[in-house]
Amino acid sequence: MSRAWIASPGAPLRGELAVPGDKSISHRAIMLGAIAEGTTRIEGFLEGEDTRATAAIFRRLGVRIEAPSDGVRIVHGVGLHGLQPADGPLDCGNAGTAMRLLAGLLAGQRFDSVLVGDASLSARPMRRVIEPLAAMGAVIEADDGRAPLRIRGGQPLRGIDYTLPVASAQVKSALLLAGLYADGETHVREPHPTRDYSERMLAAFGASCAFVPGEAAILGGFPLQARDVQVPADFSSAAFFIVAASVVPGSELLLRRVGMNPRRTGLLHVLRAMGADIVALRPGEQGGEPVADLRVRHAPLRGIEVPEQHVPDMIDEFPALFVAAACAEGETVVRGAGELRVKESDRIATMAAGLRVLGIRVDEAPDVATIAGGPLQGGEVDAHGDHRIAMSLCVAAQVAAGAVRITDVDNVATSFPGFDDLARGAGFGLRAA
Ligand code: S3P
Repeated sequence: MSRAWIASPGAPLRGELAVPGDKSISHRAIMLGAIAEGTTRIEGFLEGEDTRATAAIFRRLGVRIEAPSDGVRIVHGVGLHGLQPADGPLDCGNAGTAMRLLAGLLAGQRFDSVLVGDASLSARPMRRVIEPLAAMGAVIEADDGRAPLRIRGGQPLRGIDYTLPVASAQVKSALLLAGLYADGETHVREPHPTRDYSERMLAAFGASCAFVPGEAAILGGFPLQARDVQVPADFSSAAFFIVAASVVPGSELLLRRVGMNPRRTGLLHVLRAMGADIVALRPGEQGGEPVADLRVRHAPLRGIEVPEQHVPDMIDEFPALFVAAACAEGETVVRGAGELRVKESDRIATMAAGLRVLGIRVDEAPDVATIAGGPLQGGEVDAHGDHRIAMSLCVAAQVAAGAVRITDVDNVATSFPGFDDLARGAGFGLRAA
């Protein structure tokens, strides 16, 4: 039986809090540390199920990874060609990032591998990585373009020049990782720039990787050199508190040292355009990434047309934005967001269903959602095993007139272990059902 929450209005959100480390950076730090020469110390590592799945996979591929304390990993790199075949399928759990990036990395090994995932991940589209990797010479079998992915090793890879049909940092990263093992240059072009953590980290580890927003190129054959990685707090996890403090009257919350990479912070532009009171304080740098403290105060919000250019920069924040929209005056229109339908759940459908139960009108088209702000009521809603849906509905419950029972919330631990304690500490009304 999966767990459920009962969420209801608590106190105004007050105080200071730090959310856990960035999921995208934590995955990549394990991967690059594993195939680098030397020892990589990771601080601020996200202790989530997704990132632990990645670490467990590399242990099975023969990499020694120590966990001396919470949030710290020491990865003893084996070099580009030092991974060993695992003794069975490699389980990515719920993590799309693990599966797609590993498809690229494992395509370049001399041994075969099989990648599997949970029910949600096994339903997500993998052709987007299989096809360009095949064009590089990789051999990957999958039924109907879905996991399990059976990756044949020992294939010579060659660099390609590839334009992504959809903006996807995961696909870009898979090709760059395969590009490490390819003959010549692998050049990836994007329809809209996406998060550039792979490029930044590859360059920092000494790969021959050049990049500008929307384009990245890597030359195969260069060894990676280990280096320490400091992981900033995950903006996507901060997003739930940013929206909660914006919509719960009387709130004033300070979120400490949040990752502010511009490819992640589209939600800030949109919330500010809706009237939110969010101030970035003490801007600085952590592990080569921009960070800041975010002070968020309650403010009345109004609905807007979300500018389409922000969509890729807030792709994981739409469930939270839907809640802000539900609390705003007037309509919020989201266009060009069809990618939301192939995330851990169909996030347009699952958020629309949840908000409708709470009394909010949401109209859907394949890549459009229109949310009409209004008063929220209590009820029973289903998170569909999607971590971000569970946390977003919990935020919605903080302004609902009655208690909200949220089912299927176990997967919150994939990206945000300890969310419930942190949320209660800030003032949320939230308990296990
Ligand atoms: C991620 C990229 C995004 C995002 C995911 C993490 C990454 O996916 O939704 O949570 O770490 O590269 P897409 O690149 O498929 O949009």
